[in-house]
Amino acid sequence: MRTLIIGGAGYIGSHVARRFLDEGFRVCVLDNLSLGQRENLFAEAEFVEGDILDIPTLESVLARGWDAVVHLAAFKAAGESMVKPEKYSVNNITGTLNILNAMVKTGIKYLVFSSSAAVYGEPSYLPIDESHPTNPENYYGFTKLEIERFLSWYEKLKGIRFSALRYFNAAGYDPENRIQGLEKNPANLLPVIMEVAAGWREKVQVFGNDYPTPDGTGVRDYVHVTDLAEAHLLALRYMMDTDKSLTVNLGSEQGISVLQMIETARRITGKPIPSEIVGRRPGDPAKLVASSTLAGTLLGWKARFSDVDTLVRTAWNVYNQVSQRAGKTS
Ligand code: WQD
Repeated sequence: MRTLIIGGAGYIGSHVARRFLDEGFRVCVLDNLSLGQRENLFAEAEFVEGDILDIPTLESVLARGWDAVVHLAAFKAAGESMVKPEKYSVNNITGTLNILNAMVKTGIKYLVFSSSAAVYGEPSYLPIDESHPTNPENYYGFTKLEIERFLSWYEKLKGIRFSALRYFNAAGYDPENRIQGLEKNPANLLPVIMEVAAGWREKVQVFGNDYPTPDGTGVRDYVHVTDLAEAHLLALRYMMDTDKSLTVNLGSEQGISVLQMIETARRITGKPIPSEIVGRRPGDPAKLVASSTLAGTLLGWKARFSDVDTLVRTAWNVYNQVSQRAGKTS
């Protein structure tokens, strides 16, 4: 199987590339390295440094002939998307349309697309299933939902088959320690906690402890990036076997609070990990938990590495190694 992984030098993309290589697929990574990192590239995979806004490059790479495209290249900072929507319109929406048009032009049928739980916005019921209303609260989530709508039209009009994978909160690292690229200036909870544990950040700011949750802090559905990678493989096989598209949630179905994540990190790392309760972050729902029943039914997918200890332990393996190497022990 010949696969092109656009955004394959990124956090999730590199785990997908690793899983596809382990499956014996031929893998080419196309990435502009704006967020992705060279250290996330594998010797067994070809690499093309390119941008999804560069149509000639995109078309020339796709024209080489691939059985499928996996597209994870997007800006994903919800807060930033509310300040710079134009950046997200161009990169996320126009960039994806460029990919779709190049697929039509070069006759590539299958697309696995990185979507997000952000398409749902404030939950009106929990757990969130795929029938839940989609009212994104931030422009990032809006771009993902709009792209899903384009995918449906390209399926109807051009015979594209797509898998829209709505990730909940991706976390953790390859349990075999083969991926070591760390996100720069992370805003997500676990990387922030890891930076405090490694001594690179002073403390964790807990955005509110007055939510209607057991300990008052935000609850999210964290799903291990290795579980996500497996779902990309299963989704591709599903499309090829059934000639059908699909849209599924990918979550662990377990809710973990901010304080639970911090406490788990203190226990596993042995570090103090100072924290401070501050005000709520605008737009944060109290609780987001997925129903992933559909992914289980259609794909046979089940989260296997998404327990809180594995999420924290696999992340700490990487952060600790990098901090030891950098001599920045805390
Ligand atoms: C998780 C919880 C925060 C940081 C975002 C995007 C979403 C998706 C995943 C791409 C919340 C709390 C966080 C901190 C904290 N991205 N928190 N202190 O907001 O659930 O989802 O990332 O697909 O689209 O919106 O993730 O990790 O930012 O927050 O207290 O320093 O941790 O309030 O309850 P979020 P997050």
